[in-house]
Amino acid sequence: MAEPAAISKAGRWRAPGRVNLIGEHTDYNDGLVLPMALPMGMTCTAAVRPDGVVRLRSAQAPCDEVEIAMSALAAAGWSELPTWAHYPLGVIREFERRGHEVRGAELELDGDVPIGAGLSSSAALSCAVAIALRDLFAPSVSAAEIIDIARTAENVYVGVPTGILDQSAAMLCTAGHLLFLDVRARTHEQIPFDLQRFGLSLLVFDTGSPHRLVDGKYAQRRAECATAADELGVPFLRDATASEVERLADPVLRRRARHVVSENSRVLTVAERLRRGGDPREIGPVLTAGHASLRDDFEVSAPRLDTAAAAALVAGAYGARMVGGGFGGSVIALVDTERAANVVFTVRDAFARRRFDTPRSFEVTPAAGAHRID
Ligand code: GLA
Repeated sequence: MAEPAAISKAGRWRAPGRVNLIGEHTDYNDGLVLPMALPMGMTCTAAVRPDGVVRLRSAQAPCDEVEIAMSALAAAGWSELPTWAHYPLGVIREFERRGHEVRGAELELDGDVPIGAGLSSSAALSCAVAIALRDLFAPSVSAAEIIDIARTAENVYVGVPTGILDQSAAMLCTAGHLLFLDVRARTHEQIPFDLQRFGLSLLVFDTGSPHRLVDGKYAQRRAECATAADELGVPFLRDATASEVERLADPVLRRRARHVVSENSRVLTVAERLRRGGDPREIGPVLTAGHASLRDDFEVSAPRLDTAAAAALVAGAYGARMVGGGFGGSVIALVDTERAANVVFTVRDAFARRRFDTPRSFEVTPAAGAHRID
């Protein structure tokens, strides 16, 4: 298609990836989560097109340009489009479905959140696109609605039944803080998280074990939680107690429910300790217990995740755990800054001995949520 005469001046919007300090697989059980935004994010350079066309380009997939008329979007054979395009197109469809007209847009996507590392590159992408569309077409759309739009894009148009953890982290996190989010109440609190003051660092190990939620295991966990809640006669596992879940007859459902109930209480413990301004070293064992629960009760860990978490602890980390949906992805470790290099070395060595590829590692500090850059 030819370039239209008047593409308006472009702006740039950015949304971050996240790590979740604690509170995994609790969001779709109406529970509690405690993520922080990463310094890495996805950027959307966007402009209005007056000709009813959407054109998408991604720096990560330069050969895959997508151009589609808004009028054809509903009927488009989405299966023929590259998967990354489903996120922005899903967001556009969701704006329209909610009555916010998108006349046509030029969207260029780029970013530095490692893809498939369990660090929420997809929510960062959807949220970056959504805030760009909000500012260009529907300025009254609230952050809460953006979270729902971005989540629906992922649920309906990509086909992964995620909760709202990742999109909420992308939209609501602030620099220097953890986001304590109560998913049921939709209330949140910013909890200061200044590790530097205590001589501490939070390391992320991208284990290179591909993390894919589209293959059905995430959906299966979600369904198991719903069944467990049904059998306990509660709306969500958020409403069950530790002793109630032990009465579940099915051992698999019992383990799944045990994870969710214990994980919610770990979120409360960590939030409470940090709120008091205590030494973050105290939360280390709670993080490690979260890993054991995901590995043994929720069964979403993987050999590389277990290897990284165990090696980090051997090297003196105060706590280490897998983050995100699981089945691959990343591990976080809370370490003394002066021991960080040693922890990285020990984890790499453990990977080499098991003939796993060297994991990427980096230190993270809590960064800002989604915003317009220029
Ligand atoms: C993925 C999903 C989130 C959440 C986590 C597990 O990141 O997108 O909604 O369920 O897994 O905590």
